[in-house]
Amino acid sequence: MKHLVVLSGAGMSAESGIATFRDSGGMWEQYPIEDVATPEGFRRNPQLVLDFYNARRKAAFEAKPNGGHIGLAEMEKDFKVSIITQNVDDLHERAGSSNVLHLHGELSKVRSTADPSSIYTLTPDKPEIHIGDKCEKGSQLRPHIVWFGEAVPMIEKAIETVNTADILVIIGTSLNVYPAAGLLNYANPDTPVYLIDPKEVNAHRQGIHFIQKGASEGVEELRRSLK
Ligand code: OAD
Repeated sequence: MKHLVVLSGAGMSAESGIATFRDSGGMWEQYPIEDVATPEGFRRNPQLVLDFYNARRKAAFEAKPNGGHIGLAEMEKDFKVSIITQNVDDLHERAGSSNVLHLHGELSKVRSTADPSSIYTLTPDKPEIHIGDKCEKGSQLRPHIVWFGEAVPMIEKAIETVNTADILVIIGTSLNVYPAAGLLNYANPDTPVYLIDPKEVNAHRQGIHFIQKGASEGVEELRRSLK
């Protein structure tokens, strides 16, 4: 089976009702990145940051996978599919994808501020954490999210995965945030690259097959092209 590697971003979940970051009306227009997605922001106003992720976690629990997520899960019948997602929702998993790597963390998880390996999973019936919610050893819990300025622990694994791609598919990412955006450069020069996005995205690579559509229709078209 050919190895199909997918790099997905916020646009993948847009049709599930989850706002993207940089489109007009996107998340970063309402909430300054430095306030809610940096370690400094968390030190300045931890309650604001916890509230921001509590709200996003609830929205993610309520969202449902769209045709794009489902189509990719179905492709496991014909391909070995590895998904590398910048998204912190779990819609790929809930659609049935079995091999998902979260580059930027996971909303459903929280961890100790003192010990990054002490990770807890939240559930839809208890989707929030607050100041005073602590790990077993007594340290405050924080979202299990990679904030700007923090290391991206899964990047090495993601590079290895892209390295072994027979086909690379990029869906719903503006390719603005590194190191995720640089993953494309680790694909073999003769690996075909498909890019699904309703807008033009500058991917800095020759010979990309653009599918200028939303995720659901785009994944359908991809499947037809690969038949
Ligand atoms: P962006 O908001 O930067 O880009 C979203 C992309 O999705 C844009 O290219 C849109 O055109 C496209 N899009 C919109 N609707 C779509 C649809 N229905 N189907 C397919 N594509 C659609 O989001 P990302 O590139 O994912 O990181 O952002 C990368 C990172 O920046 C995020 O993981 C997040 C953010 O800051 C952290 O919070 C660490």
